[in-house]
Amino acid sequence: MANPPKLKTAVTASERLKNLRNTFGTRFGEAPVFYACAPGRVNLIGEHIDYCGYAVLPMAIEQNILTAVSMNNTNTIRLANTNPNYKDFALSCSGDIAIDRDNPQWHNYFLCGLKGIKETFGITRLTGMTCIVDGTIPPNAGLSSSSALVCCAGLLAMEANKKSLSKVELAEICAKSERYIGTEGGGMDHSISFLAERGTAKLIEFQPLQTTSVKLPDAAAFVISNCCVEMNKATSSHFNIRVVECLIAAKMLARAVNLDLSRALTLAQVQTELNASLDEMLALVEEVLHYEPYSREEICKVLGITAEQLSTDLLSANTQHVTHFKLYHRAKHVYSEAARVLQFKSVCDSDFPESIQLLGELMNQSHESCRDLYECSCPELEQLVEICLRSGAMGSRLTGAGWGGCAVSLIPSDSVDYFLQAVRGAYYLPDPHRAAMEKQSLFVSKPSGGAAIFLEE
Ligand code: GLA
Repeated sequence: MANPPKLKTAVTASERLKNLRNTFGTRFGEAPVFYACAPGRVNLIGEHIDYCGYAVLPMAIEQNILTAVSMNNTNTIRLANTNPNYKDFALSCSGDIAIDRDNPQWHNYFLCGLKGIKETFGITRLTGMTCIVDGTIPPNAGLSSSSALVCCAGLLAMEANKKSLSKVELAEICAKSERYIGTEGGGMDHSISFLAERGTAKLIEFQPLQTTSVKLPDAAAFVISNCCVEMNKATSSHFNIRVVECLIAAKMLARAVNLDLSRALTLAQVQTELNASLDEMLALVEEVLHYEPYSREEICKVLGITAEQLSTDLLSANTQHVTHFKLYHRAKHVYSEAARVLQFKSVCDSDFPESIQLLGELMNQSHESCRDLYECSCPELEQLVEICLRSGAMGSRLTGAGWGGCAVSLIPSDSVDYFLQAVRGAYYLPDPHRAAMEKQSLFVSKPSGGAAIFLEE
């Protein structure tokens, strides 16, 4: 097997790196010492199941967060962004790093990465730094621009403070530290950002975190299209409500089969405790959970907990207002989606002549489940997915958290040009807002490499 790519490499400067070096020089009158970059991702299948303990199947995309860094002896970390919409920020190297959950600006994601490294090593005073961030991942589009920023900041903070961590450790630290923003996300985005390898998608399993390369069929191309509705999961409670519903569903299933409730923190843990198959878990969902949403009172009664315990032990800060929980729908999505991920991987591994159709069907089923059971689509994504299917996609589905953002479509490689033109004509051109965004919103994506530190040759 080929050696995994190194975290630190010397490179000949690309145009983008040169531009960033020049901007750095003009702004700060010195040259960067090193660069760190972390890619965004597109999830091919396995949506909203990482935080339930199940494997997902993303690939890194070409678009990334690139940061130029120099170190100094001041007690300050200065942050700037090449995008003028993102304002400069500075913080002290010592003292607590405060993250604003209520109104998270771009730099708060950077701070999450710094905080993760500071806490992991118990650093009381971080190295002084000057950093300029340059991002090419469309923001709020479900392509993980914010997690890539957290990962990039974690990586550069490790390097600047002369610490060393494996990519797996970095991924775990960054996944944990992004939760300072208040979103209870899983580990997919950070894992693929660090552990991706050029040319291959990855099956990512959790606890323990491990990845397996998945070779995508040569005859398939994956096209990303943004529906142009922005979704920032930190500024609404949709995401955390789903996380909480899955947690409560796990407890309710565990209670029905007399498992120790403290061991039922995820839907995957319930399956492991029961030593059951995913089909058996789906049958258990049918048997135990009812279709109508559960009230707080019913949940408390079944679990034998008080209303206060529900609030403090199960609900998160921005889900305290929720009165009803759709447990049947969410659990059914999770167990069926977990099974589709494994089927997707085995189709890729076997490379049948009809692979592309089979993969497309799995993606379509995934989308329907996200729409109908997980309820994380939106009208614009529905219109876009429908247009993609009409334009020759074998499969098309929302990707990332949903409620806006991107779809990913599987297209036979030889019909990509036709597909791009058809989607352009039907979805983007008729609407001036979408037409203005089309260039960065509709593109073919190939599996890219993972996060890295660059030194200029
Ligand atoms: C966001 C989260 C991920 C994952 C996806 C949905 O991107 O950060 O951990 O849960 O949504 O699959």
